[in-house]
Amino acid sequence: MKKKLKKINETEKEYWNEGKLERSKIKKLRRHAFYYSYKREKKILDKLLKDFNNKKVLEIGSYSWAAWFNENTAPKSLTCINISEKELEKGKHLASKKDFEINHHLMDANNLTFENGSFDIVFGGAILHHLDIKKTIHHIHRVLKPGGKIIFLEPLNMNPLYKIYRKMNPKERTPDEHALVSSDFKIIREKFTFDHYFFDFFTVLFGFISLKIFGDKKYDNWINKLGFNLDVFFSKITLLHSLFARVIIYGSKK
Ligand SMILES: C[S@@+](CC[C@H](N)C(=O)[O-])C[C@H]1O[C@@H](n2cnc3c(N)ncnc32)[C@H](O)[C@@H]1O
Repeated sequence: MKKKLKKINETEKEYWNEGKLERSKIKKLRRHAFYYSYKREKKILDKLLKDFNNKKVLEIGSYSWAAWFNENTAPKSLTCINISEKELEKGKHLASKKDFEINHHLMDANNLTFENGSFDIVFGGAILHHLDIKKTIHHIHRVLKPGGKIIFLEPLNMNPLYKIYRKMNPKERTPDEHALVSSDFKIIREKFTFDHYFFDFFTVLFGFISLKIFGDKKYDNWINKLGFNLDVFFSKITLLHSLFARVIIYGSKK
């Protein structure tokens, strides 16, 4: 039987409030595998974030904004929601240094309580895959103004290699999270037109090798650079998208 959303939310809250994930192994790999793709990601986000200025913006599963925003990002207001008190507190601490309006709410992203048409943009980093995507997409669509925009950066789970890795390393993830698969894209497409950037297939394979050779240092090496260049090239081929580990989705409300 499908696990009840209430129970899933309780577990998510507990994991994030108590910092229960064990990610030291994957963090080492990421420092190699994502070294160059983080720079590409930042460039793309900088371009997309130009839209945020003077807009009413909502981040679900906040606080990615602290990493995403650059010194020129100045929304009219930023509303941050999270199901975890601890995550919200971290965001509040970072928000004290900003000079645009930032407000925080303890709220379930599956059941947004904002009025219809409250925001120009809804965004999030690594959050949709913690949620009931159908419910959340319905609410995001509802709280956006006509023509409102979305930007999400999410992990993918379509490559069998990642599926095996995830099975072997369950403590790196919350029990109910589900990196996106093609049926999730279908759900988003019902309510939004969107495009994407895919990241990290060869970078992961080459990152493994680089980590073995260099250990947890010297991430800017030719092995990682080669993996990155192969990714940029092959990510343009639609048929290969399911190989990749992460995606930026950006689009508009239908
Ligand atoms: C992988 S973390 C991403 C955090 C942040 N967006 C970032 O990129 O650093 C997932 C976040 O989703 C939050 N979360 C999980 N379920 C949620 C829900 N139902 N509503 C709102 N936030 C939720 C967690 O508390 C956690 O902060």
